[in-house]
Amino acid sequence: MTQSQYDAIIIGGGAAGLSLALHLASRAKIAVVTKGALREGATYYAQGGISAVLDAKDSVESHIEDTQQAGAGLCDPDVVRYTVEHGREAIDWLVECGVDFDRQTHADGRYDFHLTREGGHSHRRVLHAADATGKEIQNSLVSQLKSHANIDVLENHIAVDLITDENSRNQGCYVLNRHNQQVITLASRFTVLATGGAGKVYLYTSNPDVSTGDGIAMAWRAGCRVANMELVQFHPTCLYHPKAKSFLITEALRGEGGILKLPDGTRFMPSFHPDAELAPRDIVARAIDHEMKRLGIDCVYLDISHQAADFIRAHFPNVYTQCLAFGIDITQEPIPVVPAAHYTCGGVMTNMHGQTDIANLYAIGETAFTGLHGANRMASNSLLECLVFAKAAGQNITKHLNETYICPNLPEWDASRVTQSAEEIVIAHDWDELRRVMWSYVGIVRSDKRLQRAYKRIQVLQKEITEYYASHTINNDSLELRNLVLVAELIVRSAIQRKESRGLHYTLDYPTMDNNKRHNTILTPENTPFTSIANKTD
Ligand code: FAD
Ligand code: SIN
Repeated sequence: MTQSQYDAIIIGGGAAGLSLALHLASRAKIAVVTKGALREGATYYAQGGISAVLDAKDSVESHIEDTQQAGAGLCDPDVVRYTVEHGREAIDWLVECGVDFDRQTHADGRYDFHLTREGGHSHRRVLHAADATGKEIQNSLVSQLKSHANIDVLENHIAVDLITDENSRNQGCYVLNRHNQQVITLASRFTVLATGGAGKVYLYTSNPDVSTGDGIAMAWRAGCRVANMELVQFHPTCLYHPKAKSFLITEALRGEGGILKLPDGTRFMPSFHPDAELAPRDIVARAIDHEMKRLGIDCVYLDISHQAADFIRAHFPNVYTQCLAFGIDITQEPIPVVPAAHYTCGGVMTNMHGQTDIANLYAIGETAFTGLHGANRMASNSLLECLVFAKAAGQNITKHLNETYICPNLPEWDASRVTQSAEEIVIAHDWDELRRVMWSYVGIVRSDKRLQRAYKRIQVLQKEITEYYASHTINNDSLELRNLVLVAELIVRSAIQRKESRGLHYTLDYPTMDNNKRHNTILTPENTPFTSIANKTD
């Protein structure tokens, strides 16, 4: 089978991947590879919105300060400043792409964006399209793609592994076509991981099925360092209903007055934080977890029914309709909610251009660790990061496009030593066990004992999954599970290394923040290249 050749292969078609594709499209031949349908990714399901400083009373300094406050001492100040300063530009570009953010007539007569509030933000600075902002962004970016003949979209193609030469230069990747189960070879000058997060490593998550940490796992296998993998964000409020699969109740609902209550109607957040329901996410999630464990209850309640029904329906049509489908009228009654794994703050280490430790390999969006989020991502900063770093990576790739390049003949995928599996149950079992182990022992509240327990179990699972992978024909499930178990190992190893509680990492054995132990948890694979991104300046 012949190999296909591109200037840039972008693995992932969410906000990060599509933005980069659009930035490069006029100059380069591009493939966007998505393992499911093009719309499927966290971006499509984003609800609350995207943060940017647009209000006259707000300021860049205030956005920076809030981001760092939420990040609990681990944000990279240069990255925070860079991201926040490029917020307005990112919004302007989205509007050019056709994104229709909600607007309103302000008190002074101006007709401008409606800005909502979310946890950790000291100002209204979240642009949104009702409560389905991600859908609006994803759909707009997808329609822009259509005008670019230079972009090939390979849907239902799952990237298996990166191809790296003996000089640690990325040369492309292997991709499984899920329609015909053939593995194809894609050669490229630049490969970009934009594969999103890894929420599926936990039993309960707000993430869609595609969020299995594939980019992080592929990068690690190729030799890239990863950082702060223990910092997994749990969203405080996902719908608790036996039939609801990972449906989020946006934080903006609390921004517009929603109150968290116990089953008897008591409000509890004021006793945990002065900002109550709008405290940073880690605090709200931990408070809910605490109350659920203290009272032995299955969920708490989020109540916005004191607001006018018309207001609720206008601002939260998506949440209103989805909840109604489960028999809950949010204009009349509180919503049962529980925390669930939501966002992967750690990831593949990159510099400000999205470059990783491997030459010609970039990582952007949730897959990347830029240093923006520190120990806890502030709401609505993620979509902003996707856009800002997609542009930065695009500029860097563009600079290198003129360099001489000879496309190598890459080895074909070798499937000669594997056979078709007769027992798919192994995959289903290990998948389930892994996610339960992570939920029970590596969740919102951790301890040394729990982490050690998880580590032992994960090692057993990893051995079994690796053996299975090495001897059987690959398919989507086995590829995802292989990646998930690796990501789980990286999370647990990182969590074991942090001997303090900070931001999203809370452990009973070291319950306070200890600035003597403040660090980014960096894990280095054995095959990491000698030169790292620290040496890359352009
Ligand atoms: P994604 O949008 O997740 O896209 C990942 C892409 O990678 C997909 O196309 C997928 O198919 C592809 N992919 C993955 N693995 C492979 C592979 N092996 N081969 C090929 N393709 C692959 N953030 C905010 O800032 N504001 C919000 O309001 C907000 N709300 C959220 C609500 C929900 C329910 C969730 C889950 C997240 C929310 N977030 C929000 C977080 C934010 O949506 C994500 O961090 C962001 O959209 C990630 O974008 P991305 O482009 O990095 O990845
Ligand atoms: C939400 O709408 O609550 C999600 C916002 C985010 O994760 O940034």
